[in-house]
Amino acid sequence: MLALNKIKKDILILGIESSCDETSAAVLHSGRMLSNIIATQEVHRQYGGVVPELASRAHQQNIVPTVDTALKQAGITPQELTAVAVTAGPGLQGSLLVGLSFAKSMSMALNIPLIGVHHMQAHILANFIDDASGRAPRFPFLALTISGGHTQIVLVRDYFDMQVLGQTLDDAVGEAFDKTAQIIGLPYPGGPEIDRLAHQGNPTAFRFPKPKVEGLNFSFSGLKTSILYFLQKKQKENPEFIRQNLADIAASVQHTIIEILTDKIGQAVAQTGVRRLVVGGGVSANRGLRERLEELARTGGWELHIPRFEYTGDNAAMIAITGYLKYQRGLFDDLRLTPKPRWDM
Ligand code: KG4
Ligand code: ZN
Repeated sequence: MLALNKIKKDILILGIESSCDETSAAVLHSGRMLSNIIATQEVHRQYGGVVPELASRAHQQNIVPTVDTALKQAGITPQELTAVAVTAGPGLQGSLLVGLSFAKSMSMALNIPLIGVHHMQAHILANFIDDASGRAPRFPFLALTISGGHTQIVLVRDYFDMQVLGQTLDDAVGEAFDKTAQIIGLPYPGGPEIDRLAHQGNPTAFRFPKPKVEGLNFSFSGLKTSILYFLQKKQKENPEFIRQNLADIAASVQHTIIEILTDKIGQAVAQTGVRRLVVGGGVSANRGLRERLEELARTGGWELHIPRFEYTGDNAAMIAITGYLKYQRGLFDDLRLTPKPRWDM
């Protein structure tokens, strides 16, 4: 009986993420991270964005060594795994298929449960990794999920009881960063580049219009267009304008994006009365946004949770924690699981 209890406590989950351009594998021991290996695909840089066909090929090359390294770093053998969790969607069809096929074979070969994970739920639940610190958010909370493909405000009542209150009607916030970066000649992905430059610039040097969108939805495509027209006009007057004002442009664009996001968050807090905010997704790495949210939390009396830097972008530790939480609730899948490129939360 004692031995059985011990086995049940030692839950080892392998997480696999391959929805976009990161191949990642992680091992969690009862919610605690043992390894989190991320292979970033450099091949897309020269194209200024992710090329789906190249992404799936790179996933095929990376998946075996990435999983192998994650297991080795965790100090375990595949036979010790309790279950395998994998991103089933949303994401690129071909990329999802690579991770999913691999996870299915592991589940079959090792005779362990297969758990399909929703990528955006995982960005939120990343805040529960290493829960032992006692810093995990309590329910209910509001989640702001901001990535290259999504921008959402979600009311989270429980681990798997999530309601989208608002989302982008066009571009995601990550795209707004990446497309602006492209316009001013910065390499892909542009978000981190804008973040770095913004630190040296004046955030109120230039004013860009904020879109008027009803309720808690967002729109970012108009911002991109107004930045483009503004810079085209300025470049006509002075062909060196962008080069001479790079940091101020980056800071002003970032400032506008941060205001759009925080205006809506303020609205969501007022509307729901929920004063606990969790942030997730690649854009939550943005230093300017983190600082502004911390300031708002201080002045507004909100409780704020932002994942550690390594869990902001795409990673398999967030897939493994979601798998762990599903495992505890008996939420399993089987070999009929297929990729869901579009999948509502
Ligand atoms: O979550 P993620 O890694 O992948 C998706 O699920 O899309 O998010 C990637 C996005 C990219 O658009 C990237 O430019 C943006 O996150 N990003 C940032 C920063 N780091 C990554 N945007 C602004 N500031 C950053 N520091
Ligand atoms: Zn993501």
